[in-house]
Amino acid sequence: MHRLLPPSPGTLDAASPAPPDDTALDDRALAAHYAYPDGLTAPYVRVNFVTSADGAVSVEGRSGGLASAADRQVFGVLRRLADVVLAGAGTVRSENYGGARKPTMGRDTPPPIAVVTGSADLDPASRLFTETVVPPIILTLAAAPAQRRDALVAAGGDVVVLERLTPDLVLAELARRGLHRVLCEGGPMLFGSLIAADAVDELCLTVGPLLAGGTAGRIASGPPGTEPRALELVGALHEAGTLLLKYRRAAPIG
Ligand SMILES: NC(=O)c1ccc[n+]([C@@H]2O[C@H](COP(=O)([O-])OP(=O)(O)OC[C@H]3O[C@@H](n4cnc5c(N)ncnc54)[C@H](OP(=O)(O)O)[C@@H]3O)[C@@H](O)[C@H]2O)c1
Repeated sequence: MHRLLPPSPGTLDAASPAPPDDTALDDRALAAHYAYPDGLTAPYVRVNFVTSADGAVSVEGRSGGLASAADRQVFGVLRRLADVVLAGAGTVRSENYGGARKPTMGRDTPPPIAVVTGSADLDPASRLFTETVVPPIILTLAAAPAQRRDALVAAGGDVVVLERLTPDLVLAELARRGLHRVLCEGGPMLFGSLIAADAVDELCLTVGPLLAGGTAGRIASGPPGTEPRALELVGALHEAGTLLLKYRRAAPIG
């Protein structure tokens, strides 16, 4: 994997064009490229998605058909930098999520998976509960059937009933636990609600060299009338036709 942006130190001379940076990036260099801001005292929400060149979020209902070796490598590094992996229940169900395997850098344990689900309709026998080192955090509502919630507790889930599943309350619950380095892995509905609430600090977007066609949706699906949010491109890597872009919330003007 090679870096397009930012240019390497030594190539910043405005008088001469920057030569292409041919240094292959290992996991350590990727961890530096994707480092969260230092000294966080509140949740910093990084969202990670992979898409095809024609904007599809999935192939046959799963993201696996879009991923490449480069995307999988960055996916793993992003997990190792995070305090918590946040995902919508649709993604957890369709991708059959298990727990993260490798410890967060500097810690002994992997980040927990925090699942947003209004229905608590998760299978207690699924990998989310059976293949994990740390309990998944299940963020749900009192309206979810008590029997389902109880079954998820019995399966080892850390079930939290919130008043609403709005981004402010979800992120406040993560903050209460000291989980500030948030990695949201989708899906589109959860991302759409984070955009609507202006709660996205960063988007890591892998664009694969593929036309998916078909009926797949796009990476965000939120309420109509959502105000567009400006981003700045702060990082770009490439490998074998795959682009790995890093966008940050643009600083407010003025
Ligand atoms: N390309 C990629 O990188 C990528 C990443 C992730 C997912 N995907 C794809 O996206 C598809 C899943 O899409 P999706 O829209 O169903 O994903 P999703 O956002 O993960 O799941 C939607 C479900 O999550 C819960 N939820 C999410 N946000 C909520 C909110 N603000 N308030 C209340 N509940 C909320 C609800 O669960 P309940 O129904 O339980 O109430 C809702 O039905 C799959 O095909 C998956 O492969 C692709």
